[in-house]
This record gives sequence, structure tokens and C-alpha cells, in this order.
Amino acid sequence: MKLGVNIDHVATLRQARYPQGVESPNIEPSVVTAALEAEAGGAASITAHLRADRRHIQDRDIDELRERIATGLNFELGNTPEIIDIAVAARPASACLVPEHRQEVSTEGGLDVSGQREQLAPTINRLQAAGVRVSLFVDPEPGHVDAAAELGAEMIELHTGTYANCPPDSAAREAEARRLAEAARRAQAAGLQVNAGHGLTTANLPGLFGVPHLVELNIGHHLVARSIGIGMRAAVMEMLEVMGGYGDGRG
Ligand code: PXP
Repeated sequence: MKLGVNIDHVATLRQARYPQGVESPNIEPSVVTAALEAEAGGAASITAHLRADRRHIQDRDIDELRERIATGLNFELGNTPEIIDIAVAARPASACLVPEHRQEVSTEGGLDVSGQREQLAPTINRLQAAGVRVSLFVDPEPGHVDAAAELGAEMIELHTGTYANCPPDSAAREAEARRLAEAARRAQAAGLQVNAGHGLTTANLPGLFGVPHLVELNIGHHLVARSIGIGMRAAVMEMLEVMGGYGDGRG
């Protein structure tokens, strides 16, 4: 199981002090440095979400990440024309389409893939024509998994936020882990690569070890938070150690 590191919140910290348009010789922290440290710790890819409101990652970050990182850039984006144009021009290794709402603190749930086939199909085709592998962020529901496969996406990313927000050892959390496992089986049978992410931590991840076929996890907030204490490289290594306990869902 590979680890993709989402560095959005390194940019969140920078933007808190140096919002768009503010020039200073002191601008920090650097998202590129964080990404390189994540790679040094063993990250397999770097994820950055260029939101329409540019609340954290800026256009220049995407250019710099493309130039400087050694692993693949996973470009997270909402399905809006301006951002799609930027993603196509950047030609990242992969792109993950997510729902995006201005008022949300973070991505709140999966895409309505089955209800938005007509809007998603041309975007998926454009990205793929540019050589970009496409992932769709979905809740663990059969209809969305099937629609992702029908639309020809290469991957899905299962939304684990609901699981992560359940109290530890609760029946609700176990039920959500079972739903994720069912969706992973269905996706794999349909030929999709299965990724997962949102809200994952070293503490809650082992509860997902029963979910089969997971290829890549995308983790951001916990790693950035942990990096304040022990640094990004060590935070990534710590997470990879926990991930080493995963046996492809076979226990
Ligand atoms: N995957 C997707 C699609 C996301 O939108 C996010 C949050 O930006 C993540 C993974 C990472 O979530 P977290 O920051 O909670 O680890």
C-alpha cells in the first residue's frame, strides 16, 4: 500500500500569514520543501488541491511542484472549467476529481458520479487525452462505483471521512468499514484501482485493514499536524510503519 501525501495545509499555514497578493521576503513555509521531505520519508506521490477560491494551494505551487518533486503529482480538483484547463496544462501524473463547495472547511463527501455522468465524462476524457490518470472521489456506494467504471476512470478514491469521524470501537464505525470493504471489492472487480483517503490517522487506520485491494492512501491533515512535532519526513515514516500492517485486507 502506497502513501500519497496531501500538502494543502502547509499552504494553509503560509496563506494565514501571507494571503494572496502579499509580498514579503519572509514567506514561509514552503510547500515544495514539505513535499521533498515527504518524499524523503517514503511518500509515493504528492497531492495538491487547487481550489477555485485559492484558499491554500496557489497556481505557482503547482508549477513548482511539477518542476521539483521526483514522484508523481496528484492534482486534486473540482469539476470547473478554469481549474480543468490548469490541470490539463500541468499534465500531472494523476488527477482526483472531488466535489467542491465554497463554504466547506474541507471536502465533505464523495462525488455524485451516477447523477453527474454528463458533466464528468468530458472532463475525464480531456484529462485522459492529456495523459493524466483519473481518480474519482466517491462515497462507498455501489451506484457511484459502477458509474466510475462506466465512465472509464482508472481509479476511485474511497471517502473515509465518515469512517474517521465515528467514535473508535463504535458499531457505526464498524458498519462504515464494512461498507468501504464492499465498495473496494466491487471496484476491483470492475477493473478500478482502489485508493482511499480523508481523515486518516495512525490511530484510526488499522481499523481499515479489513478493506481489501487498497493501493494508495491520500493523507494530509494528520501528517501536516504531526510534522509540527517530529517533522514531515518522520511523520511520513511513522505512517508508513503503521501501513506496513496492512495485508491487502486478508488480515
Ligand atoms: N483525499 C481527498 C479527495 C481530499 O479531498 C482530502 C482532503 O483534502 C484528502 C484525501 C486528505 O484528507 P485529510 O487532510 O483529512 O487527510
